[in-house]
Amino acid sequence: MEKAKSQYGTFRESMRAPIHSWFTYPAGYSYRLVEVKIEEAGLDKDSLVLDPFLGSGTTGVAAKFMGIPSIGYEAHPFVQQIATAKLNWDVNTEELRDVIDAFAHEAAKKMPKLAEKIDLTTVPELLPKCYSDQTLRELLGLWKLVQESISDPAHVLFFKVAMTNTLRVVSSAGTGWPYIAPSKFAEKKVDRPALPNLLKRLDQMVLDLDYVQGGRIGKAKATLVSGDSRNMSKVKDASVDLVVTSPPYLNNFDYADRTRLEMYFFGDATSWGDITSKVRDKLVIAATTQVNGSTLPEGMLKSDIRDAAPKVHKDLMKTITALGIEKKLKKGKKNYDWMVAGYFNGIFDILAECARTVKVGGEMHWVLGDSAPYGIHIPTEKFIGDIALELGFASYTEEILRTRGDKWKNNPQRHGVALQESIITIKR
Ligand SMILES: C[S@@+](CC[C@H](N)C(=O)[O-])C[C@H]1O[C@@H](n2cnc3c(N)ncnc32)[C@H](O)[C@@H]1O
Repeated sequence: MEKAKSQYGTFRESMRAPIHSWFTYPAGYSYRLVEVKIEEAGLDKDSLVLDPFLGSGTTGVAAKFMGIPSIGYEAHPFVQQIATAKLNWDVNTEELRDVIDAFAHEAAKKMPKLAEKIDLTTVPELLPKCYSDQTLRELLGLWKLVQESISDPAHVLFFKVAMTNTLRVVSSAGTGWPYIAPSKFAEKKVDRPALPNLLKRLDQMVLDLDYVQGGRIGKAKATLVSGDSRNMSKVKDASVDLVVTSPPYLNNFDYADRTRLEMYFFGDATSWGDITSKVRDKLVIAATTQVNGSTLPEGMLKSDIRDAAPKVHKDLMKTITALGIEKKLKKGKKNYDWMVAGYFNGIFDILAECARTVKVGGEMHWVLGDSAPYGIHIPTEKFIGDIALELGFASYTEEILRTRGDKWKNNPQRHGVALQESIITIKR
């Protein structure tokens, strides 16, 4: 059990589960965590589960499997699409199989001619760095064919999720987590056939749909709101029984960068600036790449925090001031002070929305990590728990899931502070 718990904050188990595995989202968590918390809370078909940071849809998919209604918010436009596809279990699989067969037939007929016609001179420069010209032409040709030959938007989205997987599988660049590193393998670019990978993935995904449509699974309504959870107007006051969620960690991780390859490939964005306005600016601040000092309020932290939680405000200001001093001393001049202020300004609004929507007697489970920019430890879980208490929650407890931070060992910003991932349970 303890070993299982240590994996709750990771996507490892979800990578092997039907539907959950459609998209590898390393920022995601284990569906088992959601199942366990729903079981412990004794929810039924009249209950409501909320996830203000739905991500790739783990909470919604897990609740749907168990027959429990849910609602989730996700502000990242690409990740929203993934969650939308994973929550749509009503696609007719017979029709879908026909569409896939027809597509496979067309692709076999039109390739490689279609690929040869693809113009690589206008694609964002990241793409040719990640693939051989031949593979990239094939990928773009296949996607063109999807768009030209498939009319049902739900089918196109299904193909988009499958193609997203193929993009990573056939890349010769270091496209792993967290960042794409084309330079790593640039000299070893190899041709990898895209079509067999795509068809194999589509097949696996249809089998998953067969499985969930098989009758033994609950299939409750799972609503996805494509938007910002700082305002959850779609959720009624005191209507939520259980929140299971995981916010971005305050670890300077840029979510927009994770999906840069995909967004460029599908034409959802064409430049860094485009991705900033479409993604970075829409999310709670958790990275220095998202923050602009001029958009922070005077004093950096918003006055709502001072008014509602004066002690937390004071402690946060101490940390922010210390980070401002470090910034002047350190070479990189990272705006961690702004990042921390922006993070808590956003998290405060979301906690206030949770206080409004969670019923008395309900509870929340937030999986999160602490952090230590410039070696200054930030006990995120304590700040979040203390703000929640000031907003009307009754109590909170913290359980450590695992220690983490090893992957930053070689990072120039490294520090000796032991970091951890925990789950805080906050009762209303
Ligand atoms: C740690 S991930 C959650 C992953 C999710 N538990 C899963 O298993 O897929 C945090 C998510 O919050 C999203 N997010 C950040 N700011 C948001 C906001 N203001 N409103 C809604 N979602 C937001 C990010 O795009 C990211 O997908």
